[in-house]
Amino acid sequence: MGRKILVTGGAGFIGSNFIHYWMKKYPEDRVVNLDKLTYAGNLDNLKDVADNPGYKFVKGDISDPEVVGELFRDRPDVVVHFAAETHVDRSIGNPDDFIRTDIYGTYVLLEAARNSEVGCFIQISTDEVYGSVEEGFSRETDTLLPRNPYAASKTGAERLAYSYFATYGLPVIITRASNNFGPYQYPEKVIPLFVTNALDDIPLPLYGDGLNIRDWLFVDDHCSGIDLLIHRGEKGEVYNVGGGNLLNNRELTGRILDYLGLPETLIRRVKDREGHDRRYALDSSKLKELGWSPAADFESEMNATIDWYRNNRWWWEKIKSGDFKKYYREQYENR
Ligand code: NAD
Ligand code: TYD
Repeated sequence: MGRKILVTGGAGFIGSNFIHYWMKKYPEDRVVNLDKLTYAGNLDNLKDVADNPGYKFVKGDISDPEVVGELFRDRPDVVVHFAAETHVDRSIGNPDDFIRTDIYGTYVLLEAARNSEVGCFIQISTDEVYGSVEEGFSRETDTLLPRNPYAASKTGAERLAYSYFATYGLPVIITRASNNFGPYQYPEKVIPLFVTNALDDIPLPLYGDGLNIRDWLFVDDHCSGIDLLIHRGEKGEVYNVGGGNLLNNRELTGRILDYLGLPETLIRRVKDREGHDRRYALDSSKLKELGWSPAADFESEMNATIDWYRNNRWWWEKIKSGDFKKYYREQYENR
């Protein structure tokens, strides 16, 4: 008999990659995907598993105790909680949904989990909880200093999850991953935005001086880290999951244009993001000691990711010609 895995936010970027990863590796398990289908949720991401008898989609909000309670009555063995509002720029304009989903929604899930017999609750957090790290590498014991409403909401959510471990013994494990890249990432995020703009000959809006540094992690390596933690992670612990590929945004943009054979004149320098964190960098030795290492070769996975967007216009053209247009105008016009 396989296990029952409850995934929240499985119609988003990392969640859908995780469902693909999991169903391929553990075909005997049953996966239930609870997703509200916000602007970022997209069932196109899961087309190829939709008819699999081991997969079930439930449209619903993690903040709704009825929906969540019903799913816990089915006694999941493992919960992997991805669902969140995730885009920093949107959180600057309107933090409301971030508080509602990332904090309150996590609370509703934790409450339901507390009264269940779930064996493992994975709280997906982020390296952004450490704030801007000018030098060195963040360790799990470092002070948390989130600096934008998204990062602060994620910090609230993961600390709340930890409190359910400390207070009620809920088997929580927290991951703090660095910036993921790969297929099915909503094109508001820098890599899919810049690749798809470049493919359409639209300027690439580079914020500020373009020297902000991110640590890039191929999404499958994030999934393998979660997999390892479900099987061997210590409950109540936090684990960094960093790709170890530190690049500033100018370097990142240069690589994209270079691979596509396009000129740097496509770059348009625009006004910086408010409170823009300068650098994120993770020390992932704690997870590595458990046996994890990122399998991806950065350059080949980046190129494969660029190729995926080049070859799957059907996926992103639909998004970019819809509500996204209004968002793009508001974010980038007159910037
Ligand atoms: P995403 O924005 O692509 O997807 C989020 C998903 O959550 C969507 O399918 C959306 O419909 C769903 N959702 C949002 N609100 C919901 C609600 N109230 N109820 C149910 N479903 C809801 O996000 P992503 O990039 O895949 O990120 C997934 C998780 O990983 C998030 O918790 C994020 O904070 C974390 N994370 C992301 C990155 C990254 O680089 N993308 C890095 C570290 C951590
Ligand atoms: P993003 O993909 O939004 O991820 P995060 O803010 O969570 O790290 O942005 C990655 C980096 O790219 C960040 O330093 C901001 C920068 N950026 C731009 O320069 N232009 C853009 O249009 C976007 C969306 C991001």
